[in-house]
Amino acid sequence: MAKLELENLRKQFGPKIVPVKDISLDVEDGEFLTFVGPSGCGKSTTLRMIAGLDQPSHGKVLIGGHNVNPIPPGKRNIAMVFQSYALYPHMTVAENIAASLKLRKTPKDEIKRRVNEVSHKLGLEHLLDRKPGKLSGGQRQRVALARALVREPDVFLLDEPLSNLDALLREQVRAELKQLFESQNKPVVYVTHDQTEAMTLSTKIAVLYDGVLQQLDPPHRIYSRPANQFVAGFMGSPQMNLLTLNCQGNCAVLGDFKINLPELSTVPSQIVLGIRPEDVRLDTSDDFQTIQGQVYLQEDLGKEKLISVRVDGSDQAVRALLPADQHWEGEAITLAISAKATHWFDVNSGDRLGNH
Ligand SMILES: Nc1ncnc2c1ncn2[C@@H]1O[C@H](COP(=O)(O)OP(=O)(O)OP(=O)(O)O)[C@@H](O)[C@H]1O
Ligand SMILES: [Mg+2]
Repeated sequence: MAKLELENLRKQFGPKIVPVKDISLDVEDGEFLTFVGPSGCGKSTTLRMIAGLDQPSHGKVLIGGHNVNPIPPGKRNIAMVFQSYALYPHMTVAENIAASLKLRKTPKDEIKRRVNEVSHKLGLEHLLDRKPGKLSGGQRQRVALARALVREPDVFLLDEPLSNLDALLREQVRAELKQLFESQNKPVVYVTHDQTEAMTLSTKIAVLYDGVLQQLDPPHRIYSRPANQFVAGFMGSPQMNLLTLNCQGNCAVLGDFKINLPELSTVPSQIVLGIRPEDVRLDTSDDFQTIQGQVYLQEDLGKEKLISVRVDGSDQAVRALLPADQHWEGEAITLAISAKATHWFDVNSGDRLGNH
C-alpha cells in the first residue's frame, strides 16, 4: 500500500506569489490522477512538492500514511518523468535505465534482469547500446519512462511527458502509457495542460486554476457536470458555449431566444447558460428550445463543421457542430437545444446552479 495523500498543501514564493493555495486529495494504488489547468496554475509546483524538490510552505505530503515532508527527494522512492526527459547524454540507453539501481547498489544480475524486462516492455531492446543523442524524440521519451519503471517506485510522477512529441506519436504513446500504468498498480500523478490526455488517461482529474483545486472527479463527471464556469470552459473541445442571459420570471432570455430556468431558490437578474457545441442540433422536435440566428463563420473539421451563429436580437454567438456536407456560412439558421444538455452558472461566482 502506497497511497499518496496531499493535506492542505500550499506553496508561497515571496509575499505575493502563491502558486499552490490549499490542495487536499488522495491517490490510491492503481489510480491515475491528472492535474490539468492553464500555464502557471501550479501543476509543476504541486508535483515538485510531492517529489520533495520543493518544500511546502504549509501542509503535508503523505505516502503510505507517513508524512514525507522531512524526507529528501532521493529517499522518497518516487520516480519522476520530466518533459525534458533529463537523460544522461554520456551514458548508453542501458546505463541510463540502470543508473538509479546502480546508485542503490542493486546486485548486477538483478539490474540486468530488470533492465531487460523494462526494455522489452517499451520496445527498447535494439537501442540499449546507443547514446541518447542518437535517438528520436519518441525513443528518448521511452527511455525516460523505462528509467522510471525500472525503479519499481511507490509513486510515479509525470510532468508533461508527451509535450515534445508530434501529434501522431503523442496519440500512440498516450495509449501505451495507459496500458503500462494500468499494470503497475501504484499511484500515478500526471501533469498536462492537454485536456485530451487528461480525459483519456485518468481515473481522476484535478482541475487547477490559479493554485486552487476547481474540481476533483472522474473524467466523465468533469465533462458532464462541470463544477463551475472555469471547468466548463476549460474541458471539452470545441469549447462549451457560455452565454450570458437576462432572467425574466422563470425564463432566461437572450435577444429572441428564450429558455426555461432551472429550479433556483432565488432568481438572479442574469445567469450563464452553458451548452456544448455537440449538443446544439438541427432537430427541432417538441422538447427542444429553438435558437434563431445568422451563420457568420464555418470551420471545416473534416467529420463535421463547426459553425458560429450570431443569435438574433443579441450580440452573442453560439457555436454548433453540424454535418460537414452542407454549406452554412451566410445562412439564417434555426438551431435547437435540449434542456437536458444545459449547464447553468452563477454570473458572478461562476459556480454551477440548479441540481440537474
Ligand atoms: N521558484 C520560484 N520562484 C518564484 N515563482 C515561482 C517559482 N516556481 C514557480 N513559480 C511561479 O509559480 C507559478 C506556477 O508555476 P508552475 O510551474 O507550477 O506552473 P504550471 O502549472 O506547471 O505551468 P506550465 O503549464 O506552464 O508548466 C508561476 O506563476 C511561476 O512563475
Ligand atoms: Mg509545469
